[in-house]
Amino acid sequence: MESLPAAWLCLKPGRHHSRFDIRRSGKIAALAQLRALAMSGIMHAAMPNSHSSMPDIAALARAIDRPLALVGMMGSGKSLVGRRLAQRLDLPFIDSDAEIEKSAGITITEIFELAGEEKFRTLERNAISDAADSGPSVLSTGGGSICTPETAALLCDRTIVIWLQAKPDTLLSRIGSISSRPLLHTDDPLATLRDLAERRAADYGKAHITVTTDQLSAAAAVAAVLRALDSHLAVS
Ligand code: S3P
Repeated sequence: MESLPAAWLCLKPGRHHSRFDIRRSGKIAALAQLRALAMSGIMHAAMPNSHSSMPDIAALARAIDRPLALVGMMGSGKSLVGRRLAQRLDLPFIDSDAEIEKSAGITITEIFELAGEEKFRTLERNAISDAADSGPSVLSTGGGSICTPETAALLCDRTIVIWLQAKPDTLLSRIGSISSRPLLHTDDPLATLRDLAERRAADYGKAHITVTTDQLSAAAAVAAVLRALDSHLAVS
């Protein structure tokens, strides 16, 4: 028989897939059946733990005892990925910018305009501190939060910090509108992103986990975070 990856060969006829027989049905039919099995979730149970396999989500969720704080530049996907991650892990989702806007009653742009960045950073630290105190959750933080030393300390001590890393070009292509990002109200937002990314690299480097997302869809980024988290917590 033609040599096939080990994961395929572990799919022997059994309780879940008694009609699966590579020798009888041929490679093309086997592929179609593998796809169907993967979509029904059965293949994950049959596959050995490998780099590409998904962790046991329920076991992973049980092992999380503090917020998962997503950090990274504007446009890195913290809110989108964070929301989906929270859904997968059945955890509350908290967005620090949204919390600040809710309690201030004005937008982030207005806070920058009316009170300045320093005041915004204080409000941000308080919002993140409140979230860090409220048990396991997925916390999407503002892009510059980890660059304030007190906020960095509380993130690193009281949460699991996950850096969603991406190149400036990728970030700009993902940022729909810069109107809600006061720091990008410049003549050349791409140059500003490059400059900020360079100046912030050491701060983002404090994260416990780094996931590079340039080539990843939101769904793939969520899967990559789950796998990285699983290795970090040594669950599987
Ligand atoms: C900022 C990022 C923004 C927001 C504020 C400042 C930053 O959040 O907190 O405009 O310093 O990078 P997002 O990263 O969610 O866009």
